[in-house]
Amino acid sequence: MQNVSLRPITVEDATSVQLYASDARLAATCNVPYPYPSNGGQVFVERCIHARESRQRFPHAILLDGQFVGVIGLNLPDFTNLTAEVDYWLAVPFWGQGIMTQAVGLVAGVAFKELGFCRLFSGCWSKNPASCRVLEKNGFTEISSIVNDGHFGQKFAGETIRRFTLSYDEWQRHMTTA
Ligand SMILES: CC(C)(COP(=O)(O)OP(=O)(O)OC[C@H]1O[C@@H](n2cnc3c(N)ncnc32)[C@H](O)[C@@H]1OP(=O)(O)O)[C@@H](O)C(=O)NCCC(=O)NCCS
Repeated sequence: MQNVSLRPITVEDATSVQLYASDARLAATCNVPYPYPSNGGQVFVERCIHARESRQRFPHAILLDGQFVGVIGLNLPDFTNLTAEVDYWLAVPFWGQGIMTQAVGLVAGVAFKELGFCRLFSGCWSKNPASCRVLEKNGFTEISSIVNDGHFGQKFAGETIRRFTLSYDEWQRHMTTA
């Protein structure tokens, strides 16, 4: 197991976000823009801090041995139905080490135990099987496969998105069997 932890995004993360989010390989499978704007890191962290303060989103920095390596968010919170959407990206040098699998497990704990959500949703492009696998390894179940008509962003319009969900009960069962 890697030494992975989460914490809220801070202004100090702007330089790392700028560095890692500028990589075209990252933009190929997630909604990070490419080319990445020269002030993108600064704008991103400021928006994250505001979003957390106003409870519009709960973005976290992913840390490996205390160093920033990526972002994972609990987005689109629905405080009536107690649901949220999990989105994430990991800096390219850290792919394939089990880090996002751990980060998704940690953010599920935050969602269910700290924030009181009852169900999480997430989705990944069918051309991104590693991301789907990360969800499956955390107990998520696939619920649908949808052609993106633009609802999930114009960048990947026309591509297929696989939708997954995880309830609090499913998460607890997964934790006891994992
Ligand atoms: C996709 C991403 C989140 C994966 O993170 P990661 O830390 O490298 O993932 P992990 O190492 O925890 O697990 C990856 C799993 O996918 C598997 N995998 C990798 N490539 C695969 C492929 N082409 N087909 C099937 N499975 C694959 C790995 O073997 C591993 O599963 P295993 O442990 O059962 O062997 C990361 O590459 C990333 O952030 N990419 C760019 C942004 C992005 O795609 N974000 C998600 C948007 S939906």
